[in-house]
Order: sequence, then structure tokens, then C-alpha cells
Amino acid sequence: MRPLRLCLVASEVAPFAKTGGLADVLTGLGRWLGRKPPAGPGHEVRLFLPYYQRIAERDVATKPLPGASNLEIRFPNRTIRCSIRTTPLPQSDVLVHLVDCPELYGRPDLYTEDADEALRFAVLCRAVLETCQRLQWAPDVVHCNDWHTGLLPLYLRTTYAWDRLFAHTKTLLTIHNIGYQGVFPDSQLEALGLGEQRAHLHHGDLRDGRFSCLKTGVLHANKLSTVSRTYAREILTPEFGMGMDELLRTREHDLFGIVNGVDYGDWNPGTDPLLPHHYNANDLSGKAQMKAALLGRMGLPHDPRAPVFGVVSRLTAQKGFELFADSIPVFLQREDMRLLVLGSGETQHEKYFQWLRDTWPNKVAVYRGFHDELAHWIEAGSDVFLMPSRFEPCGLNQMYSLRYGTPPVVRRTGGLADTVQAWDPNTRQGNGFLFDAFTSQALAGTIDWVLRNWRDQRGWRELVKNGMRCDFSWEKQGPEYVGLYRSLVS
Ligand code: ADP
Ligand code: GLC
Repeated sequence: MRPLRLCLVASEVAPFAKTGGLADVLTGLGRWLGRKPPAGPGHEVRLFLPYYQRIAERDVATKPLPGASNLEIRFPNRTIRCSIRTTPLPQSDVLVHLVDCPELYGRPDLYTEDADEALRFAVLCRAVLETCQRLQWAPDVVHCNDWHTGLLPLYLRTTYAWDRLFAHTKTLLTIHNIGYQGVFPDSQLEALGLGEQRAHLHHGDLRDGRFSCLKTGVLHANKLSTVSRTYAREILTPEFGMGMDELLRTREHDLFGIVNGVDYGDWNPGTDPLLPHHYNANDLSGKAQMKAALLGRMGLPHDPRAPVFGVVSRLTAQKGFELFADSIPVFLQREDMRLLVLGSGETQHEKYFQWLRDTWPNKVAVYRGFHDELAHWIEAGSDVFLMPSRFEPCGLNQMYSLRYGTPPVVRRTGGLADTVQAWDPNTRQGNGFLFDAFTSQALAGTIDWVLRNWRDQRGWRELVKNGMRCDFSWEKQGPEYVGLYRSLVS
């Protein structure tokens, strides 16, 4: 079978621009898809994202993509000029194309609440298609990700429908998080060049004076996917669909759930360049050293017998930390344990974790912000990883923690349900701990159970090894995407 021409588009790609798992997925999937046989399937891959100010400031060596400078993207009342810069995706043969447009992306943050936020990502969509035209490169599949790329399938069907280059191009939209839909006033449609496409937009939204980029993508992409099997079922229900379940049910047969892969080149405790000590399932001594080093770094007393609970997360309602309020203090009061938190987000959660730290300064340490190296240290140096999510499309952190020998405590939802199996000390099967009800009591009961198992260190080592041996690599997960791409093309 011939290699496919694949165009992957997103608002984040690691290490260039990352706020969460989306960035890791684009990089891991892109790398694997482009890897030459026999190591990979050897597809022709181009990855597109905006050339954010942060990337420009980070000394990334980029150069102009020949033939793709001075693109003129025409909207009814203005023309946006941009150029494409390119750089290799580290550890791969894949090219990353960065849409260079200082007037839209020359801002301190990746995402803004500025009046032109919809335009910023509409330009990303159109710049992708204009670049393909300039290069006369006809993608077999344009793989869109999240709301930022939701308008692309519609532009392809309307603004670019005349161009035979795209006659056989198909689109896949992957929903990484339905909590973010890109909803804007419909008064902006004209400026986005979609004023005449109202018939192709979600009518209910238009009646309410708005439009949704994600819904538009769901209406027009040839196929849809999300990042775990369980979440693919969940978003068809009112509880998880966030107002999109009815629309998604109309496309149920085109919606697939593919669990995210892990790039074990980046996330492997045996080789991780961000760690001072390394280890593997047969020799865990480096993990004990990481625990001591981590506690030293965070300024907490070290005792090998006291379990360390780690958190690395965006601090948003999705992640379920409100369950801590009526559960964690009891354990901090009673148990000799440590809690390490790395994250930032909503003020109420940041304040709560600061309160925990102020109340138990010898047991709790908090780093507010984004810190890639510390994230790796916490995965490695903790004994237990906490992820009590209210909903979780897939989640990468629980898979990282499994590989780093740090059994996760998760709520049975979305990708957490698909990747974590409950530890049973009798059969010695399972890789972590799960609870069902979204209540503090359920979480507390599970932490209690964790602590009882922790006291049996022999059993605990089995649990750790079960997790470390799980394989969520892109080599395993990636072929599911290729199957989906092929089904679109045939
Ligand atoms: P989500 O995408 O919903 O945030 P995931 O578990 O899929 O959740 O991915 C989160 C990714 O972001 C992981 O790579 C995690 O290490 C990283 N991450 C989250 N918060 C931080 C932080 N404060 N500092 C460093 N990395 C973080
Ligand atoms: C989203 C989800 C997370 C998922 C990630 C990558 O941010 O919240 O569960 O792992 O995207 O797909």
C-alpha cells in the first residue's frame, strides 16, 4: 500500500507549544506516522501550528518553507498576510510548519480572550490549505484536532471546493476535550468569510446568535474520533456531551474511540534525560533515589516508609480536585505521608493547595506553574499518582505514572477507565486504584485502600511492576489511526 500524505493540524505540538496532553499526542502520533519502515509506517506527514511568540522567543531554529511565503488569506473585509516557517520535529523525519503571522500570534499566551480569537484559528485552518495549494501537495487526510481546527472541513467544502487539488482530500476531526468548543457570536461569521454558509452551520446555535467551531467540525468532517473508547460512548450522553450529545448521536457511526499513545522516547524512566537517576522494572533502586531527590528538591523531609502522593495537572473543574476538600485533610492529619502538587489554573484550586501547604508544611509542597522537568520528577519520585477526574477524554499522566512505577488513583471515567485496572492483592493482577462515584467519600475510601496495600511492600512491588510493563506505545495505538485514515481514503 502506498504511503499516505497526512496533514496534522493543531493548536499545540510539543515541545514547541504545550499546555496539556494535546501537544504530546500530536508529537507522538506525528513522529510514529512518519517513521520509516521497519520502525514505523513511513507516511508523508506535515504538522501545522501557529508560530506563537513563545516559539519565536525560544530560539527554535526555523527557516522559511520554500514556496510558502507571503500567503494572502482573503476575508471579506481584510486580507491577512502570513508566511510558513519550518523546522524538523525533534527525533523524527517529520516537518513542522509554523504559521508566522505576528499580528495574530505575537501575543504572550497561546490562547486569548481577545476579540479576534476565532480569526486567529480560522487563519490557521486556511493557512494550511493555502500552503498545500502553494506546494501543490494534495493531502489524503487532513487530521484536525479540537475546536481550533473545527472550521477547516467547512472551508475545504466551500472556499476551496473549486480546487481539484483537494478533490480526494478527506478530513478527520479528533475531539480531545469537549469542554472547549470555540463558541463565538454569529456576528463574526461575515468577517471569517462564512457569512454565506449559515445553512451549513448548527441552526440551534444560530438561533441563539452564536456559532461553535467544534460543532461545525462535527457537522462537516468526514469522520470523527475521540481519544478513548469509553469517552467515545460517554460524549453521546447528556452527562458528558456538554450540549453536543444530540448532534454527536446523529454521527454516531462515524465516531471512533482511539486511546492515546505514549511516546516512550520522551517518557521512559530508564533513559529520561530530565532525571538524575534511572531505573526499570527489574531494578527499582533508582526510583528510591528519585524519591529522596524529589523530596529534597521540594523541601520536605524524606522517609522511605512515608508514601508520596503526586499531582501534575491543569487545575480546572475537569480534574476533580474539589473532591480533595473532604478527603485529603483527614489523611494529612492522620498519616505520615507527603503530597506534592505541580499545576496551575483556577484560583480556587490554587488557593486550596496553598492552604494545604500552609497547614501541613512538612507534608505538602506545591509548585504553582508549568514545569516540564518537575513533571517528570514527580512521575518518577512519587509512590502514588492522584487523578480523580470528573471527566477525562483520555489522560496521559496516568499512563506516564504507570511506566514510572507510580500506581495511579483514578476515577473510572473516559480513558482512565480504559487504561487502569484495579489492583487485586489476592490475584496480584491490576495496575492501579479506581473509584466510581464522584464523591469525597469514594476517593477517601480508595486512599484508605491504597494505604493498606502500601503496608504490604512485597505486594506493592508487584503492583508497580504490573504498571511498568503496560504498553501504551504509539506502535500499538498508532495503527488504529492508520486504519481510520485508510478507511477514509478507500
Ligand atoms: P490534559 O491534556 O487534560 O491536561 P493529560 O493527562 O492528557 O491531561 O496531559 C497533561 C500533560 O500536560 C502531561 O504531559 C502533563 O505532564 C502536562 N502537564 C500538566 N500540567 C503541567 C504542569 N503544571 N507542568 C508541567 N507539565 C504539566
Ligand atoms: C485533552 C484531555 C486529555 C487528553 C488530551 C490529549 O486535553 O483533557 O484527557 O489526554 O486532551 O488527547
